[in-house]
Amino acid sequence: TDIESFIRGLPKTDLHMHIEGSIEPQLMLDLAARNGMKLRWDTAEALRGAYQFDNLQSFLDLYFEGCKVLVTEGDFRDVTRAYLRRAHEDGVVRAELFIGPQSFIERGTPLEALMSGVLGAMQEARREHGLSVGLMISVHRHRTEADAMVMLDQIMPWKDQIIAIGMGGAEIGNPPAKFARFFKAARDRGFRTTVHAGEEGPAAYVREALDLLQVDRIDHGNACLADPDLVRELAMRRIPLTVCPLSNLRLQGVTEMARHPLKTMMAQGLHVTVNSDDPPYFGGYVTENLLACRDALDLSLQEIVRLVRNGLEAAFVTTEEREMLL
Ligand code: HPA
Ligand code: ZN
Repeated sequence: TDIESFIRGLPKTDLHMHIEGSIEPQLMLDLAARNGMKLRWDTAEALRGAYQFDNLQSFLDLYFEGCKVLVTEGDFRDVTRAYLRRAHEDGVVRAELFIGPQSFIERGTPLEALMSGVLGAMQEARREHGLSVGLMISVHRHRTEADAMVMLDQIMPWKDQIIAIGMGGAEIGNPPAKFARFFKAARDRGFRTTVHAGEEGPAAYVREALDLLQVDRIDHGNACLADPDLVRELAMRRIPLTVCPLSNLRLQGVTEMARHPLKTMMAQGLHVTVNSDDPPYFGGYVTENLLACRDALDLSLQEIVRLVRNGLEAAFVTTEEREMLL
């Protein structure tokens, strides 16, 4: 349709996606076969059929199971390359990718292999597609702060190739406050920071992310709406929120897209961006997310352009790099 090609043609960003959550079903089967592993599913359709979730934890269970197929440097290169090609075809001009190395290192993949595969595919995408792309290292909040500190030490050799430090995983019961020292350490070492907050957790977690962790961006952040003072502060400070509408729908953060708070968030002056999170699991890349919002929330073209511009403005790039994206 006209609107679909309009959206696809806009120079978009994807500022919240997880490399290990971007493995398309057929690639997951191929990687499993390559590594001599047997999955619980024999076909891509069967695997896709398993993408039904009640909440964040039920998704994380499948996500971490799927992570097991990523073992070698070549695996990390192939999955990163496949995502970046799809993103480029989707009209994404700037992609900021999370990867959470802890589970891979735990199973014996050297961090060098993971980094070399991911960074190699990123360099290839810059060259072949002219894509602007940055890597963010994410720690797991369901692990300890000491574990996160170890991760921070381990990634220092790649400091100049990492645009930010983030945190994901099971949110409820693992508030930002648990990681206050870790985020301070990351900031002291010169990293930008971002954190998943207010996806399933309450507004108080978004408040902690802002005050205790002093992050540059919030991933999701939906729950902030319950606290008007917090909304005002996020809006005035122009703290970007990387919202993922299809993710929220599929993890039952909203019962239907028509009830998604995206439009309310925009109306309250929040710096909202639209992102894919884990595209195969949630049923779409950035264009599908924007289209789903437009259809359910009756977004105007002006609002769609605003969302896309917000993404460009929220990207972890210099002013010079930003101008080159348009
Ligand atoms: N939230 C928490 N953990 C995650 C997510 C998310 O959206 N995606 C991948 N890991
Ligand atoms: Zn996420």
